[in-house]
Amino acid sequence: MTERHLKQSPPLLVRPATLDDVSSIAHIMQKCFDPVEETHWHNQQIKEAISGNHLSVFVIVVSDQMVGFLITQIVVDEAEILLIAIEPERQGVGFASHLLQGWLNAEKQKSRLKKISLEVAEDNMAAIKFYHSAHFEQVGLRKAYYKKANGERTNAMILARRL
Ligand SMILES: CC(C)(COP(=O)(O)OP(=O)(O)OC[C@H]1O[C@@H](n2cnc3c(N)ncnc32)[C@H](O)[C@@H]1OP(=O)(O)O)[C@@H](O)C(=O)NCCC(=O)NCCS
Repeated sequence: MTERHLKQSPPLLVRPATLDDVSSIAHIMQKCFDPVEETHWHNQQIKEAISGNHLSVFVIVVSDQMVGFLITQIVVDEAEILLIAIEPERQGVGFASHLLQGWLNAEKQKSRLKKISLEVAEDNMAAIKFYHSAHFEQVGLRKAYYKKANGERTNAMILARRL
């Protein structure tokens, strides 16, 4: 997606995260994810993700305020999306699409990515719609993969997009 597709057009920027972003990322994570799931990281894990070499962390900043983040892991020519989240009040206007495209543009300068994959809970309809709109297709299913706050288990869909 390009800025042209955004339903709002404030000044916005997609950039690699810095250590100054840790608390904002943690804040958005708390608001967006169920703490029972493995999607809830401690500040130290976020710091290590930003400063280490194994993961890539990007943020989207709108009018100087961070509204979302993306954490990926790249192994050779394949990327896995570990987490993506947009502030609940700022969802539905194209920011996740813009963040994904901004990250992809930056990564393509450095590596020859051939595939992006991810796991998403089968009942996370917003995320599934988002990924379908970003041209991901289902390639597998992990049964009872996620545990929810109420103790129930949910299947994980495995989605992938070839580049
Ligand atoms: C998934 C998520 C990142 C999408 O962010 P977003 O900024 O709202 O997404 P966008 O505005 O870029 O939407 C992209 C597409 O998804 C669709 N979409 C997004 N949220 C939707 C919803 N709640 N219901 C229906 N469609 C939705 C949009 O309509 C759009 O489709 P289009 O391109 O055909 O117009 C956001 O809902 C979120 O942070 N969820 C909580 C965290 C999460 O579950 N992350 C994913 C698992 S790691």
